[in-house]
Amino acid sequence: MTQIENVMREGRVFPPPPEFSARARVKSIEEYQQLYRESLDQPEQFWSRMASELHWFTPWQQVLVWNEPHAQWFVGGKINAAYNCVDRHAEGPNADKAAFLWEGEPGDTRRVTYRELKTEVSKFANVLKGLGLQAGDRVAIYMPLVPELAIAMLACARLGVVHTVIFGGFSAEAIRERVNDARARVVITADGGWRRGAIIPLKANVDDALADGACPSVEKVIVYRRCGNTIGWQEERDLWWHDAIAGVSDDCPAVPLDSEHPLYILYTSGSTGKPKGVLHTTGGYLVGVYLTSKYVFDLREDDIFWCTADIGWVTGHSYVVYGLLANGATNVMYEGAPQHPDFGRWWSIVEKYKVSILYTAPTAIRTFIRQGESWPAKYDLSSLRLLGTVGEPINPEAWIWYHRVIGGGRCPIVDTWWQTETGAIMIASLPGAVPQKPGSAGRPFFGVSPKVVDRDGNPQGPNQGGFLVIDRPWPSMLRTLFGDDERYRAQYWSQIPHVYFTGDGARYDEDGDFWLMGRIDDVVNVSGHRLGTAEVESTLVSHPLVAESAVIGRPDEITGEALVAFVTLKGNVEKSAELRLELIEFVGEQIGKFARPQEIRFTDALPKTRSGKIMRRLLRKVATNDPSLGDTTTLEDISVLARLQEEEE
Ligand code: WTA
Repeated sequence: MTQIENVMREGRVFPPPPEFSARARVKSIEEYQQLYRESLDQPEQFWSRMASELHWFTPWQQVLVWNEPHAQWFVGGKINAAYNCVDRHAEGPNADKAAFLWEGEPGDTRRVTYRELKTEVSKFANVLKGLGLQAGDRVAIYMPLVPELAIAMLACARLGVVHTVIFGGFSAEAIRERVNDARARVVITADGGWRRGAIIPLKANVDDALADGACPSVEKVIVYRRCGNTIGWQEERDLWWHDAIAGVSDDCPAVPLDSEHPLYILYTSGSTGKPKGVLHTTGGYLVGVYLTSKYVFDLREDDIFWCTADIGWVTGHSYVVYGLLANGATNVMYEGAPQHPDFGRWWSIVEKYKVSILYTAPTAIRTFIRQGESWPAKYDLSSLRLLGTVGEPINPEAWIWYHRVIGGGRCPIVDTWWQTETGAIMIASLPGAVPQKPGSAGRPFFGVSPKVVDRDGNPQGPNQGGFLVIDRPWPSMLRTLFGDDERYRAQYWSQIPHVYFTGDGARYDEDGDFWLMGRIDDVVNVSGHRLGTAEVESTLVSHPLVAESAVIGRPDEITGEALVAFVTLKGNVEKSAELRLELIEFVGEQIGKFARPQEIRFTDALPKTRSGKIMRRLLRKVATNDPSLGDTTTLEDISVLARLQEEEE
């Protein structure tokens, strides 16, 4: 609740700096409102004009066909994402412009121009073609943050092969689950990747995932040499990236694909069950990420853009790869950890590459706040002109610090609300047009129609909290969950009839600015990473000593939320500090280190209602030592409390 009370009290407003507005793409609130109205009142006209800024082999016949809950955008159009992101800029004035300014963690650097990108993407696409991959086949990518990760994605897109990128922090178990769900024919990985001076054994994780025929769909594993660490090798199956591209032609025309041809699958956590394979298609997604990059970040020809997200998450897909490259922009890409070798690393990168737009997560900002202002003060950050945040609500204190210490008081901050499912930014105040309020994501983007409603779908008035829903289709929306359309309907279109259910709570104020209030389902946001409590629970109960578990999120100063797991053990198993650590590590091994609970609490029984529902609200109170419960720190049988509290749930 403190978060909500906090933002309720926040009243500061930061109008766009006049010198920023003067040069901005959208210069005033009136201009924003006019475009926004047009996007809702005359969508055909608006989207036709916007989409025609991209390259289409064949124009569309119809902007939208909507059969709730299935949308088709730019129907009949033929397009290729790689063509738009690479080929369009690889000839003419931008050919020698940097697509990527890359910095490895140990300090090695590379500059990849659009011309070079086209050569590399075409070669690698020919490699994939040579392996027999065709439009519609799936490929899994599990790589460190190196240009080849983007090259692999774009090579897939060039052929219409559907990629599914698996974040490098995921475990073998998580790889196996995703590869099998997508039935990927090829896995692209690297020997390792650098993180805090150590090597993450990516290839070894893939080997473990695929061991004993666990992933029968996989025919080949392509391995990029990054760290030179020793790896296992299966002659029949494994192929070095550098061997594969040697002597391969760099001529590989981009395939004209249906606007609705699948571009990628990205797995994300839901409130129940296994991760969901969010499916994005080509035309609408590309229009969405192209346009939001251009307007929300007010992109200009000479900008140096740095989105610090890993490409393994949707933020990296949309704002390191597709959206930025579709605009022909220059991206900074940094492989490693923010604190390596010290907390000055990010700021040294801003200074070195003269970054003009920085896009990052509140959790990173809070980490830097704790390290003090002396780190950023050592570097020249005057190249920055715009800052962005994403992934979780930003607390006003962190906003103000970011504005003052990093932005030197002169850079607007765009707080961008969106989701893996939405594909592109949905709510964010255009920086040259709309006044910014710390803690508010601001106004809807063009074509986005968000509403705040109660459980029955009734609209809520200003400042009345409720469920955030979207009541119209938008171009970059997910089309379905891969292989599970039923779940797509149930998860997003059935909770409240006829609207897209975001899973977030929100309110809007008198000015129409939106304030996000966190998830209202059992999804927890740890350092901007989405985790389903159900996933962590089922992992814990798969441990041989665990009988039952309930996982909840508790507010955390740095990571936003942290996981607390309540665990009951089997039979006569002894509770011990060692077992606690073992269980934490077990979750790390099974899902990924970022999913490790901050605390494990053993309890004799989980508190349940008469109908058998776990009383999560009570567990949240216990986890935060809520004073209304008295001292619960040594209480082993929480069901005693449950009986007292049952009325409340
Ligand atoms: C949360 C990340 C408040 C929200 C792009 C959403 C935010 C979930 C914001 C999606 C923001 C994202 N303010 N909350 N600016 N941005 N969220 O799929 O709860 O990893 O539903 O996509 O993050 O997380 P996902």
